[in-house]
Amino acid sequence: MNNDVILCAIETSCDETSVAFVRKGNELLSQVTQSQIQAHQTYKGVMPELASRLHIQVISLVIEEALHQSKLTWNEVAAIAFTVGPGLVGSLHIGALAAKTLAYALNKPLIAVNHLAGHIHANAFVSSLSYPCLALVVSGGHTELVMMQGPLDFTIVAQTQDDAIGEAFDKVGRLLHLDYPAGPNIDKLAQQGEVSYPLPHLKLDSSSFSYSGIKSHFNNLIHNANQKQEIIHVENMCASFQSVAISQLISRLDQAIQTHQPKHVIVAGGVSANTYLRQECETLLKQYPQIRLSIPPLQYCTDNAAMIGAAAYHYYEAGLFADLSVKVNPGLRLTSEIKV
Ligand code: KG4
Ligand code: ZN
Repeated sequence: MNNDVILCAIETSCDETSVAFVRKGNELLSQVTQSQIQAHQTYKGVMPELASRLHIQVISLVIEEALHQSKLTWNEVAAIAFTVGPGLVGSLHIGALAAKTLAYALNKPLIAVNHLAGHIHANAFVSSLSYPCLALVVSGGHTELVMMQGPLDFTIVAQTQDDAIGEAFDKVGRLLHLDYPAGPNIDKLAQQGEVSYPLPHLKLDSSSFSYSGIKSHFNNLIHNANQKQEIIHVENMCASFQSVAISQLISRLDQAIQTHQPKHVIVAGGVSANTYLRQECETLLKQYPQIRLSIPPLQYCTDNAAMIGAAAYHYYEAGLFADLSVKVNPGLRLTSEIKV
């Protein structure tokens, strides 16, 4: 094991151009992230074509600035890691091209990292994972419960049948005319409101999540209120939506803890920034004092290159290198990872 391994990591799967230099998978030497959020706000969602163009414009500068801030030279960098999927195909291509160019020009190994493995290993910046580990992955594109027996050994034990939870936050927020991404806005507004609107009744088995029914239910509530010219209490609407969206996660998490008996529970992905979700996870885990709970600090919850560097360290240790012909995979799943 080489404990001083320094990796360059590039993340461009969606609307952040992010480059980081990470030592030993858990020490962040530098990170530069150029967010495109403002550009997409006009469209109330990410415009894939625009995202690719903006990544192209800034990627070289972001790499240069991150290297500069790290005070490293390329000689000290062991390998180049990048997000290979899942994500937007055009956006992924820009990061892949940049990483391949660096790997080729500098004659360094290339590491193709699963974005979701990145979200999970973002926890390395606060504590190392203990196995068996149960990860709740909640983001704009994913809602999954994943059992891990090792750093790259993933088995999905529950997943969404339709929309992802972050997508539901963003869609309901859009109906309420909140800025994109609506998750953080709903989080704040819900703290000033209470659950007062009728909630949908969902029948789901223990291996499923579903968010399209919740989304339609709130769509109808808002539409009916508008038709009757009733004033919508936005804070209460946010609290009601958030309560039903998060309670589904907590009940599945509880079932999975009982079935799979993990030593460690972690929460990962952009939605793990949610205040109410964090509180509910802490409350649930008080019933299981023998299990450790970790949730990454807020800055590591949403997309960032540091988490890709953290996951890439395990690929490096396992000798899982990619060659220059590796293709990005917008629909990459966690189960397609090689078990180590
Ligand atoms: O992981 P991420 O940055 O990108 C994807 O890989 O999807 O997650 C973005 C998602 C968005 O849907 C955003 O609304 C949601 O995470 N999000 C939140 C919060 N912060 C970000 N959702 C609820 N509460 C938050 N505080
Ligand atoms: Zn993400």
